[in-house]
Amino acid sequence: MKKDILSLADLELSDFTRLFNRAAELKARHKKGIPDRTLTGKSLGLIFDKPSTRTRISFEAAAIQLGAAPIFIHSGDTQMARNEPIEDTARVLSRYLDGVAFRTFSQETIEQFAAAADIPVINALTDQFHPCQVLSDLLTVIEKKGSLDGLTISWIGDGNNMAHSWVNAAAVLGFALNLACPKAYCPDKDFMRQARKKNKRIMLTTSPIDAAQGADVINTDVWASMGQEHQQQERRMAFAPYQVNALLLEVAAKDAIVMHCLPAHRGEEITGEVLDGPQSVVWDQAENKLHMHKAILDVLMKK
Ligand code: CP
Ligand code: NVA
Repeated sequence: MKKDILSLADLELSDFTRLFNRAAELKARHKKGIPDRTLTGKSLGLIFDKPSTRTRISFEAAAIQLGAAPIFIHSGDTQMARNEPIEDTARVLSRYLDGVAFRTFSQETIEQFAAAADIPVINALTDQFHPCQVLSDLLTVIEKKGSLDGLTISWIGDGNNMAHSWVNAAAVLGFALNLACPKAYCPDKDFMRQARKKNKRIMLTTSPIDAAQGADVINTDVWASMGQEHQQQERRMAFAPYQVNALLLEVAAKDAIVMHCLPAHRGEEITGEVLDGPQSVVWDQAENKLHMHKAILDVLMKK
């Protein structure tokens, strides 16, 4: 395993397997009330430049449950807000902490930070990727479907940070991934070309019906991500045909599960009927962030 998880392209097949197994083990022990204090005495910094409910709190709880101390850092309260170089911040925090989870805007920022840091750096969401979310979502898929073998996963909506991380995962894990995105909101062409060199079953279409046909998993996300709030109006128009609703579910496999990383906007990218319906696994998905984040911290910070 590399020092950092900055995107899922950092992980090999064996790393995915190790994280899925460790998360399942930690989850089972947690349910039985068996403590796992594998990180006693360590400290995890959480630098967040964007809001968060699930990622922040599940990382904080994960650290506490493993015996480590989480330290929440709002970058606006640090010297980074007064232009202290990101690399200097990384060097200094490496002297205090044993790991950092970082949520920020550009992928470049987290890469600069990680290159200068001696400690593990974990991407807690950037504009380009959301790797930890897709790791915990894959854990949920494995729990619900038994394995990833032979599955078709569809992505309906924006070719955003979540979509990119699903593409990265499919490139290594080999499952069929059907993405349906409006033309102007597709994942980057070069990025798709690279991924398709590794997995020919990564398909991109503009038709939600084609992408959802026979799918075992239907996935969606908000139409305007954090930082894109000013584009909300134009996005609402472009994405209107991409709503995950009962009609779309009709073409998917009968036992298809519906996923959304949350927060969700009922009546926009997904109807309330589907989000709160029997095929939705969104609350299990949210729970699994805790167990997967424990596995990530355990594997990266125990050394
Ligand atoms: N899914 C997710 O990352 O949610 P938060 O923005 O609440 O962390
Ligand atoms: N694509 C969304 C994910 C939120 C968890 C965003 O970046 O805002």
